[in-house]
Amino acid sequence: MFSISRQTLRRFLVITLCAAAAAATSSFSTAQDEPKKEKQNPIETRMRAKLSASATVLEGLATEDAALVSEGSKVLLDLSKAEVWQVLKDTEYREHTQGFRNAVRRMEEAAKEKQFASAQLEWLEATKKCFDCHNHIRKTKNAATK
Ligand code: HEC
Repeated sequence: MFSISRQTLRRFLVITLCAAAAAATSSFSTAQDEPKKEKQNPIETRMRAKLSASATVLEGLATEDAALVSEGSKVLLDLSKAEVWQVLKDTEYREHTQGFRNAVRRMEEAAKEKQFASAQLEWLEATKKCFDCHNHIRKTKNAATK
């Protein structure tokens, strides 16, 4: 009697697991649809890429790994060069882009020369540009909707 109910329990478990697997598979396929959505918003995709490149840089700086710093910097410089960054065409926006690129370049140089203390300072400068540029965009957008 006990063994039968145990078998039933096992069958129930198998069914539950299959259902869970099916649910997982279907949510996996929605996750795979994600890139399509990203393609529709290139700015968002690039900013996400910038976030992960920033994490690479941060890791490189924290572990004094110049190769990682360089890897992240290359992505950041490529992304900031791209046309899609030119959302606003005003002087301030251009200055933030330029300032960001310069700081990233100086940081990469410093890391290559194993000057990690100055590389870290340059990174602070670069991330400050992330905020400066976003604040500027927000301000401009707010002004446009008022
Ligand atoms: C010169 C301007 C500029 C700089 C510098 C900049 N960004 Fe952006 N960022 C933008 C623009 C433009 C958007 C899109 C804003 C919008 O559409 O409202 C954006 C949006 C974002 C978003 C939001 C994306 C989303 O999901 O909506 C993230 C995250 C982001 N940036 C990360 C970064 C990081 C990290 C840095 C620095 C390493 C950085 N950005 C530097 C211009 C900049």
